[in-house]
Amino acid sequence: MNKNAMEHIETASVDELRQLQVERLKKTLNHAYHNSTVYKRKFDEAGVHPDDFKHLEDLAKFPFTTKKDLRDNYPFGMFAVPQEQIVRVHASSGTTGQPTVVGYTQHDINIWSDVVARSLRAAGLSSKDTIQVSYGYGLFTGGLGAHYGVERLGATVIPMSGGQTDKQAQLIHDFKPTALMVTPSYCLNIIEALEKKFGSAKDCSIKTGVFGAEPWTNEMRKEIETRLGIDALDIYGLSEVMGPGVAMECLESKDGPTIWEDHFYPEIINPETGEVVQDGELGELVFTTITKEGMPVIRYRTRDLTRLLPGTSRTMRRMDKIVGRSDDMMIIRGVNVFPSQIEEQILQIPQLIANYQIHICKQGHLDTLHIRTEMRQDSSPQLATQLANQLKSQIKTMVGISVSVEVLNEGSLPRSEGKAQRVFDIRQSA
Ligand code: DLL
Repeated sequence: MNKNAMEHIETASVDELRQLQVERLKKTLNHAYHNSTVYKRKFDEAGVHPDDFKHLEDLAKFPFTTKKDLRDNYPFGMFAVPQEQIVRVHASSGTTGQPTVVGYTQHDINIWSDVVARSLRAAGLSSKDTIQVSYGYGLFTGGLGAHYGVERLGATVIPMSGGQTDKQAQLIHDFKPTALMVTPSYCLNIIEALEKKFGSAKDCSIKTGVFGAEPWTNEMRKEIETRLGIDALDIYGLSEVMGPGVAMECLESKDGPTIWEDHFYPEIINPETGEVVQDGELGELVFTTITKEGMPVIRYRTRDLTRLLPGTSRTMRRMDKIVGRSDDMMIIRGVNVFPSQIEEQILQIPQLIANYQIHICKQGHLDTLHIRTEMRQDSSPQLATQLANQLKSQIKTMVGISVSVEVLNEGSLPRSEGKAQRVFDIRQSA
């Protein structure tokens, strides 16, 4: 196959795709039931059997898998093949409790490399490109997942990993990569380093950014595209399902990641009731892997909130930009607030920088938010109070909550080297 050509399934008819999904789901449900004691028990307890699956709608009869299932079976209890067939493990750091561990067969690694290569092609990249991978290498799926995909595409990979920001900038200057794979928050950090070291970031060799691993807004996309002079595209994924490359935004439409539905079957559910909702409705994203061997997941609850949208550049459906994770939702005086809503408002003000912290504090019995952000170096210090008031009033109008705001000088807040931590709950320590 021509390495730069689209695969047949990317543009096959919806009927062909649905038929393939039914076949693959049957196989996966059987594989999980017969080779994993966890799934055997879960299906038996729910009174369902793989034979009950005949049509796509039947999937809703099967029980969900959650992070708790992975934690309870730490480290390798979710694997559905003998250990000798597992060629790699990854693990999430897990901010609370046990880390979660995932395992891959060689076949899984091949498919993962294929879907990342397909994602890069969707970003307009080809074997002619040189791609700097600045996602962390190691137990995190970002670095190695991206790396294998770049090699599969036949492009040149610079396996830089995360951190050493000064060196990141130097390598971009010296090796002249045409694309960068990194978290959007760390990209901003690299842009600052390029600007400091070489006067400008816009003139560098990078033309395309493949950004993911954390929520980011379209306002952040504009900021990065302008400062780096690139096309910034959204790549989505999670370790439990595979890693980066579960879904990828296409360059020609830039309208939210296309889900690679021939490998990952998506549903959106009402997070309260667990019921499947219609395409187009907001809810929690749930995935069933339909080709994975090592650790298949059935109806995995991602906690990510989004909507399913019809295909545009491909037959497969798209997902809207993630609004946030249900566990990131803050409830402030009865109003549901996501960090992304605050980011949107910060980036409406040109003098402010997309680096910010949200502190959840207690005022009497009530929770309040304190926002810390920075203004660009060339702004006059007298502007700080004015900008703080402007942001405060915008958040009040657009998000509907009263917050306090602190505008600091550029460089005051810590910089992200991977996934940025935006929310700090200081209610206990206050
Ligand atoms: O973050 C895999 C990945 C690496 C994706 C590199 C893209 C690029 P985990 O560490 O398991 O895996 O974290 C998965 O990160 O459930 C989302 O909450 C969030 N996330 C990942 N991609 C996006 C994105 C990797 N494009 C969790 N937009 C997911 C918003 C994202 N959130």
